[in-house]
Amino acid sequence: MTRLYHDRSFAVFRQINRLARATGLSPYSPQQFTAMQADHTLCCLVAELPRFQRPPVGYILYQLIVPEVEIYDLAVHPLWQKHGIGSLLWRIAQRHMREAGATECRLEMRRSNTKAQRFYRGHGFQEHGVRQDYYREPPEDAILLHCRLLTDDPEPPVQFSLDLPPKG
Ligand SMILES: CC(C)(COP(=O)(O)OP(=O)(O)OC[C@H]1O[C@@H](n2cnc3c(N)ncnc32)[C@H](O)[C@@H]1OP(=O)(O)O)[C@@H](O)C(=O)NCCC(=O)NCCS
Repeated sequence: MTRLYHDRSFAVFRQINRLARATGLSPYSPQQFTAMQADHTLCCLVAELPRFQRPPVGYILYQLIVPEVEIYDLAVHPLWQKHGIGSLLWRIAQRHMREAGATECRLEMRRSNTKAQRFYRGHGFQEHGVRQDYYREPPEDAILLHCRLLTDDPEPPVQFSLDLPPKG
């Protein structure tokens, strides 16, 4: 069973950087982590597989400014991709966003990241623009995607346990 929990501790941020590097996303600096910890609009939902006693295998990091949400990262370790963990993270994060009153979600990604674009389109996101030469190293356009958050969850229940976000 996948265990999901909200956590913005430095221990989890270190694991996030490990996953970001493994999946080709940009890792964060210690200064960014300090700013992220102080920002209570920032949410981090982490996926673990307790049965395998491993560090987190995936996470989704998003900023919740009702009624909008910006996804910064969604990543699943390459060894654990295509097992539904990314979909589960998105689905449970989406439920959290909706319960907080959000109605719109957006994100941007490299044009060459066709795998993630397929994933997001499969989950109802649509392209709504391009930022030319937005990325560096290497330079590349950003594709802007957005979706309206579903008012109910049409998918069948799955096995997972969820720890609620800490208060405050
Ligand atoms: C995008 C990403 C998070 C998806 O994570 P994931 O855990 O592989 O996602 P899922 O397993 O839920 O779905 C991925 C695919 O596997 C398929 N799949 C899901 N469960 C499956 C299973 N049990 N067996 C086989 N395939 C399965 C899904 O249908 C989906 O197919 P698609 O690629 O044609 O849409 C992952 O590819 C990733 O970390 N990419 C690198 C980081 C990145 O670019 N993030 C996005 C920018 S923020």
